[in-house]
Amino acid sequence: MTLFPEGIPKLLQALESEEYVADPAIATSLYLAQQLEKPLLIEGHAGVGKTEIAKVLARLLGTELIRLQCYEGLDASTALYEWNYAKQLLHIRLQEKDGRSAKEAEAQIFGEEFLLKRPLLLAIRNGGRAPVLLVDEIDRSDEEFEAFLLEVLSDFQVSVPELGTLKAEKRPVVILTSNRSRELSDALRRRCLYLWIGYPSFAKELAIVRRKVPGASEALTVQVVALVQHLRRLKLAKVPGVSESLDWAAALLALHATQLSAQLVAETLGCAIKDESDLRKVEAELAAGRLPLGAGA
Ligand SMILES: Nc1ncnc2c1ncn2[C@@H]1O[C@H](COP(=O)(O)OP(=O)(O)O)[C@@H](O)[C@H]1O
Ligand SMILES: [Mg+2]
Repeated sequence: MTLFPEGIPKLLQALESEEYVADPAIATSLYLAQQLEKPLLIEGHAGVGKTEIAKVLARLLGTELIRLQCYEGLDASTALYEWNYAKQLLHIRLQEKDGRSAKEAEAQIFGEEFLLKRPLLLAIRNGGRAPVLLVDEIDRSDEEFEAFLLEVLSDFQVSVPELGTLKAEKRPVVILTSNRSRELSDALRRRCLYLWIGYPSFAKELAIVRRKVPGASEALTVQVVALVQHLRRLKLAKVPGVSESLDWAAALLALHATQLSAQLVAETLGCAIKDESDLRKVEAELAAGRLPLGAGA
């Protein structure tokens, strides 16, 4: 599959047109992941736009997004498939009613149509249209699951004991994300291309908030971004991400604010600061007049 054959500048433009503010590093990684048909592992702090990339990419490709949200205890069958017992039973009953033996019916109930396909199998059995498979927050899953995933990603086929091997009709475009709550294995890293997304620069964040909260006044947008950028330097327990800037700007807009004031900041701090000790710290900074509230500070 050759997508964006016109190259990286065009891809950058396309991302922008889908409201994703990218930079050449991001566009290059996406481009290469497709050209080389390799999974792309994206690491970065919470709220820097990792998950959003997969959504935007699926929209750009006009294809389905299949998301596997990882969590502690996620196991292979939840990610891959389960047998649809209810459907199997019903089928046996109907067959018996038609006068066929249970044995005959049994022979039929282990077909693909009796599988409840979970995200990984859905991504593999895609009817010839490569979807975008998003394996989100892989760092939350256990190491055993990571090893299993690696196996799936190496040959895009799954063996179902009752059925045999199910191969991918078309390889999905795979994006994995990690918040780095634990180290991923070297084997998985080697399998993937790697992209690190850091907190955005002032200019990039400004561009994101302008795009995503277009109703906010320019002065307010600049103030919110400058303030969040400042907060990130305060060594907080929960550093605000881009989501927080967006939430904050949207909240202030909902309050019909066009300018920040110390009082407004105090009243809406919960949009950006989500931890009690951080809240105290920032409140103290605010009271001491050490937070930038001026335009473009
Ligand atoms: N570069 C960007 N361009 C546009 N929106 C962005 C960008 N980065 C982050 N966002 C927005 O910030 C929010 C958080 O992004 P998300 O992808 O969920 O973060 P992550 O998965 O890294 O935790 C989303 O609403 C997303 O639309
Ligand atoms: Mg995410």
